[in-house]
Amino acid sequence: MAEPKLAIPKSKELFEKAKTLLPGGVNSPVRAFEPYPFFVEKAQGSKLFSVDGNAYIDYCMSYGALILGHCHPEILDAAREQISKGTVYGAPTELEVKFAELIRQVYPSMEMLRLVNSGTEATMHAIRLARGFTGRKKIIKFEGCFHGSHDSVLVKAGSGAAWFGTPSSLGVPEETAGNTIVLPYNNFESLEETLKRHGNEIAALILEPVVANSGLILPKEGYLNFLRKKTDEYGIVLIFDEVVTGFRVALGGAQEYYGVKPDMATLGKILGGGFPIAVFGGKREIMENLAPTGKVYQAGTFSGNPVSVAAGYTVLKLLHREREKVYPKLERNCERLAKALKDGVLDYDLEAQVNSLASMFQIFFTTVPVTDYATVKTSEIQKFNIYFKNLLKQGVFIPPSQFETCFLSTAHSEEDINATLTAFDNALKNLAEAGNPP
Ligand SMILES: Cc1ncc(COP(=O)(O)O)c(C=O)c1O
Repeated sequence: MAEPKLAIPKSKELFEKAKTLLPGGVNSPVRAFEPYPFFVEKAQGSKLFSVDGNAYIDYCMSYGALILGHCHPEILDAAREQISKGTVYGAPTELEVKFAELIRQVYPSMEMLRLVNSGTEATMHAIRLARGFTGRKKIIKFEGCFHGSHDSVLVKAGSGAAWFGTPSSLGVPEETAGNTIVLPYNNFESLEETLKRHGNEIAALILEPVVANSGLILPKEGYLNFLRKKTDEYGIVLIFDEVVTGFRVALGGAQEYYGVKPDMATLGKILGGGFPIAVFGGKREIMENLAPTGKVYQAGTFSGNPVSVAAGYTVLKLLHREREKVYPKLERNCERLAKALKDGVLDYDLEAQVNSLASMFQIFFTTVPVTDYATVKTSEIQKFNIYFKNLLKQGVFIPPSQFETCFLSTAHSEEDINATLTAFDNALKNLAEAGNPP
């Protein structure tokens, strides 16, 4: 294998120190990778710049949050202007109302909504509200979907198990996990069977309509409509967790793209233009159960903080205004990158699958088409790691895990895409030459 081109001595030193202070040296687990991550000094447009003086074309984009790239000038200006007027008030603002109006215009399923600070908070409160509204305890989630790091959703199915969940994280009480039923995504029969037996006990079905937390998995033809029909039949609140897919799959998210209207939805990431904010919302009759009008409690000191709202309002206005340019450009670039990966797989006789949609893509080193968590798990992780490291050495940063998705932004230039095409070709060639890793 080629010698590393990108030395990162300062990052190594920082990581050694970070490990003594922060568990694993990081503040979110997926940022850690072997032997140590590069530490970022600054970012601009499509690139991250490390403390070691290296530049990386960024396809992580803070896990999908930055659809317009790093440091978009209009977003920064809006945030700066707001900062000069105050950062948090503990009282409502006019901009919150305008922001909510714009969100509802793009997501008409959100007849009412509430702003929170993270995707985790959004799904946690959406689930509590669905429980309060229906008076039921159990929820259904799908294997491989990630909805943040709170107890109800940190549950993973055992082999074929479909009823009482097992905690996949230590510290999640069995009593909580037991109320989460985990089913395979894209599997019509398992849902049908579960609902026949337990449909009337289930408060909510929550899913990523396009799964972006197990690599990238697309819904089968008719699957989202099927979920809509079945949840209606049993009075279950259908929650689309669009923290990733919102403003990404289309301006109006997967619900617009696939034409399926959920009862509730969550948005985050892109919503804040790089600042922390998220939202949950849905049918008025459900949302009115939230305090202070209703008896389901939810609150937050920084909820709807004016800086995030100013940045979020700006990104939404930009996306709204430029949608005819933004989405086709992202899609074109994504198609080029996905095609290059597919071509490389054929040219170098590799066994791999490539999934892509809108501005998201991922490669899986497996012979099996990837349609659910079980098929993602057939991927050869070691090959992915070699591919990841090779790209990194060439100055291309993708999320360091097979279970994540690569994201494009409008800041990725023709030059970036061309450099990435070359890097992909080199990485796949290198993998083919290395043969099967031990
Ligand atoms: C689909 C989905 N929902 C919820 C979350 C949690 O969001 P946050 O990290 O803002 O808490 C994530 C985070 O990656 C996500 O991908």
